[in-house]
Amino acid sequence: MAVVTTRQSMLFQVILAFVLFLSILNNVNAGITSTFIRSEWPATDIPLDNEAFAVPNGHNAPQQVHITQGDYDGRSVIISWVSPDEPGSSKVHYGKSENNYEFTAEGTVNNYTFYKYKSGYIHHCLVDNLEYSTKYYYKIGSGDTAREFWFETPPEINPDTPYKFGIIGDLGQTYNSLSTLEHYIQSGAKAVLFLGDLSYADRYDYNDIGLRWDTWGRFVERSTAYQPWIWNAGNHEIDYFPHLEEVTPFKNYLERYTTPYKACKSSSPLWYAIRRASAHIIVLSSYSPFVKYTPQWTWLREELKRVDREKTPWLIVLMHVPIYNSNSAHFMEGESMRSVFESWFVEYKVDVIFAGHVHAYERSYRISNIRYNITSGDAYPVPDKSAPVYITVGDGGNQEGLADRFLDPQPEYSAFREASYGHSTLEIMNRTHALYHWNRNDDGKKLATDAFVLRNQYWANNQRRRKLKKHYLRSIQLKRIGYWLIRSKGSQSIVIHRLHP
Ligand SMILES: [Fe+2]
Repeated sequence: MAVVTTRQSMLFQVILAFVLFLSILNNVNAGITSTFIRSEWPATDIPLDNEAFAVPNGHNAPQQVHITQGDYDGRSVIISWVSPDEPGSSKVHYGKSENNYEFTAEGTVNNYTFYKYKSGYIHHCLVDNLEYSTKYYYKIGSGDTAREFWFETPPEINPDTPYKFGIIGDLGQTYNSLSTLEHYIQSGAKAVLFLGDLSYADRYDYNDIGLRWDTWGRFVERSTAYQPWIWNAGNHEIDYFPHLEEVTPFKNYLERYTTPYKACKSSSPLWYAIRRASAHIIVLSSYSPFVKYTPQWTWLREELKRVDREKTPWLIVLMHVPIYNSNSAHFMEGESMRSVFESWFVEYKVDVIFAGHVHAYERSYRISNIRYNITSGDAYPVPDKSAPVYITVGDGGNQEGLADRFLDPQPEYSAFREASYGHSTLEIMNRTHALYHWNRNDDGKKLATDAFVLRNQYWANNQRRRKLKKHYLRSIQLKRIGYWLIRSKGSQSIVIHRLHP
């Protein structure tokens, strides 16, 4: 009898120790600062005569072709391009099979000067009333120098529609940028959420002014002609040159890159929202007024009310300047926007906020710092299940190089950070789960470095989860994606295993 008691007591102690061990593991929330050291290409722009900027053959052949979503719900695209020599035709011929362009749409053409730079003729053409989930072929230009491309419309707005977004920021036009762009194209994502700082053309002035806007347009065409990039302006789009008497902010950018801002009742192309598949995407302007009662503030307040998580469960916000950043580069620059908008991000349960600006990668835990007011002392981010995850992907690879000085020690809110070039993907699986990857450019190879499963903030609510139990989770099956194994267990919970790569 005594032996049994001793055994029971030992067993109890072992179980107790194991439970304690597990609870310690659970409470450890230490972030990771990756020590990965890599060689990289120099942070200098690719020479102008490089094939990466190849000019299409023939007189006035369309170049710098790029498309973006043209309306609120994804049934339109805006096709833009430049005729370099003369105004050219603004007509787009398009149709659902190759070489059979049964429809046409008429766009606009405009050119501008910027100090001594003269732009080519910039065309923007809205192609609307498209069918969902359809591949369209299109032709622009005329005669022998006409060029043909294609794009795919997104699926109809639906809460369980899978969709894969790419996320790129601060791209520029170096060999590191080229590596990022080529890796992104391999990812199979369908649209890019671009986080601002496109060409870095503003690094050149006097005789070289403006030129790098054109090279960048040709550089990214390999992706932008075939899928929409959702644009967001950064500080390098401001192009403020008082010594050359060019003082209109965003002049080059706004002539070249359009957004469907009117469709969401915004008063500026710099801040707007779109809905695509199962996502509601809000683009904010870090360099436009956003304090209380300004147009951007008023618009965001109304746009957040329009978000319908029953239709678009995924609420994603894009901005250029990160709100949570523990890199010494641009440290605290996002603080003014944080103090204005963070409480809304928590209240509306934003899933994830992507920013660029800092030339490194960083991901936060779900944290908030909304309790502080000027009469209380609480002013440190604390864990908050209703808060978004903040991710900085300003590591596209521009000529300013990497921001490799992280503040030490790593703050508690920072989950993972690394100073390498790369891009991210967000693969929405259904209304409850999305797979997120950050892919480092490992000296020319694409390598998934940071990955996690993003659980939807709205549908994570217990009551809503129970509602889903009956209707949706039964349909989830065993599936391997990359090195994640996803399966349903019983009828309610989904177990995610990470396999060895
Ligand atoms: Fe920036």
